[in-house]
Amino acid sequence: MKYLGIESSCDETAAAVVEVVDDRLIIRSSIVASQIETHRLYGGVVPEIASRAHIEAISRVVREALDTASTRPEELTAIGVTAHPGLIGALLCGVNFAKGLAAAYDLPLVPVDHIKAHIAAAYCKEEGEELPKPPFLALAVSGGHTSLYLCEDYMHFRPIGETRDDAIGESFDKIGRVIGIPYPAGAGFDRLSAEGFLRATGEDDAEAAYRAFKKSAAYKSPDYKLPSPAMQDGTLDFSFSGLKTAAINLLHRFEQTGADFDRAVFAAAYTYQAVEAVARQVEEALSRYPSHALVVAGGVAANSHLRARLSGIAKRKRIALHIPPLSLCGDNGAMVAAETHFAYLAGVRAGDDLNASAADGI
Ligand code: KG4
Ligand code: ZN
Repeated sequence: MKYLGIESSCDETAAAVVEVVDDRLIIRSSIVASQIETHRLYGGVVPEIASRAHIEAISRVVREALDTASTRPEELTAIGVTAHPGLIGALLCGVNFAKGLAAAYDLPLVPVDHIKAHIAAAYCKEEGEELPKPPFLALAVSGGHTSLYLCEDYMHFRPIGETRDDAIGESFDKIGRVIGIPYPAGAGFDRLSAEGFLRATGEDDAEAAYRAFKKSAAYKSPDYKLPSPAMQDGTLDFSFSGLKTAAINLLHRFEQTGADFDRAVFAAAYTYQAVEAVARQVEEALSRYPSHALVVAGGVAANSHLRARLSGIAKRKRIALHIPPLSLCGDNGAMVAAETHFAYLAGVRAGDDLNASAADGI
């Protein structure tokens, strides 16, 4: 079985071919055309520009994915396409392209949820690696999501926690922008925080520095004090707007008082609160809903501090941790093709009236 996955929900036009061999999902090609350089000029994604760029890139990207995989469209089992959630104009480019291709080659068309697809990136395994065993807990952390799901099997996901306002990635991007990190700020924020943890603690190892941060003078100083975005009301929800506002206020205070400001230590203090909040809700979720595995998905799954922290929790709880390689954390077509496989087996099909939707679909 071979699947073509098409992704165009935000600022990446992507396509990939995934083949199933002995129940293992093997990536035969994965082509990503990023629009980041274009949007960077504006400090964020401009939806109208994104749609136009998808239209320009999509034929080439899909052709390259098929050619690299030495696959003719006739050989495909099905075409999967991200149909929700995302920017509506951007989604429509992929959906309409997929509809045309499916009609031209008389292939089944499978609508795919973007967040389920991010989680499905963890199903693409190297030889000898196992798939996450249900029931498992999935954490989706991206530019638009901070959500926890209890996955009863590969199709049935129960939302058990989510952000009530900003998403974690969006908050890194917004605060990063204020301290001069170019869009998207996540990876730069990650590196700057690593520097901050080392400087604040005097440690020389990144993970040791993160662990020691709570005891540092910087953490205890009111200058860098920030609130936790984990809700304190017994739910597994998050709220990042309070953390973001407190961070902006803190930056203003430095500006007004002219006190010495350490950008890296500030980034570290921010990252620490964000990562600890996610870790706290994940630990709580794992104790409320016994799971065999923890799957971490989405662009923020690339965060080195979050990866290390969650890996510690998984070891302590003796459960398997599945975090995709960095190449599969951001938006890509392989995750869409992987999700297409499970949706196809479950009988999910779209007709030629398939439409895109900006709203969450899980
Ligand atoms: O999943 P994704 O590529 O797109 C959405 O579906 O939103 O996630 C993009 C987000 C951006 O906010 C970006 O800044 C963030 O992922 N990101 C990171 C890192 N790499 C990317 N955030 C924190 N640390 C990183 N290393
Ligand atoms: Zn995404």
